[in-house]
Amino acid sequence: MRKIVAGNWKMNLLHKEAVQLLEQLLNESTQIEGVDLIIAPPALYLADFAARIPADGRVKLSAQNVYFQPSGAFTGEVSAPMLAALGVAYCIVGHSERRSYFGETNFDVNQKIKALLDAGVCPIVCVGERLEERYKNVHVEVVAQQLEEAFDGLSSADMAHVVVAYEPVWAIGTGQTATSEQAQEMHAEIRHALNINFNESVVNEIPVLYGGSCNAANAAELFAQPDVNGGLVGGASLKASDFMAIARSF
Ligand code: PGA
Repeated sequence: MRKIVAGNWKMNLLHKEAVQLLEQLLNESTQIEGVDLIIAPPALYLADFAARIPADGRVKLSAQNVYFQPSGAFTGEVSAPMLAALGVAYCIVGHSERRSYFGETNFDVNQKIKALLDAGVCPIVCVGERLEERYKNVHVEVVAQQLEEAFDGLSSADMAHVVVAYEPVWAIGTGQTATSEQAQEMHAEIRHALNINFNESVVNEIPVLYGGSCNAANAAELFAQPDVNGGLVGGASLKASDFMAIARSF
């Protein structure tokens, strides 16, 4: 199983600061073995970063969002073929911030996933329940439905090119991480839900990342769980030393 640590920089860092962080990561990444490092800077920096990152290195680029149409009159948007043409290998879709602030639905997520796969970009598909859904004990159903609608119409062959990130909304940016038991339980449920519609041997190879206040202090315990294959890291990805400590936690 691939191990992945992905940094979601969100809407942070001016260009000069972002380049500084990138340079630190590129330097330190040479000491990391057996873990794919992915960084998702603001879209504006992708072209410049693509030119700075060695194609054969440990660090890969991700976008934070995409529009599903390939081109046209969609002011302000960026398409999957545009990402692919720059060598951007991954794109986050369905992040809870996009769902809650920008009204992104499971149907939108589904269209974006299809557009990315058509262009040869790997979607990192975020799912996760809100706090009230966990209190009501419907968190497993909520996530299963997100998965079902997000991956509707895809084949098992398509699923060989996706990454899933479980990000409980109540854990994102709050400092309140899911316990390793809570993460393991949901990651196993995610694999179980995917097994219903897709070939088991493919599903067993889909990396399922944990996200939500993942940091250098808790990553080792989370990553020790059998179905936790890495992390999608927000706040702690903005410091090279923290991000690298997380990558060394396997
Ligand atoms: P956080 O964000 O690590 O700051 O909680 C994670 C994410 O939103 O992907």
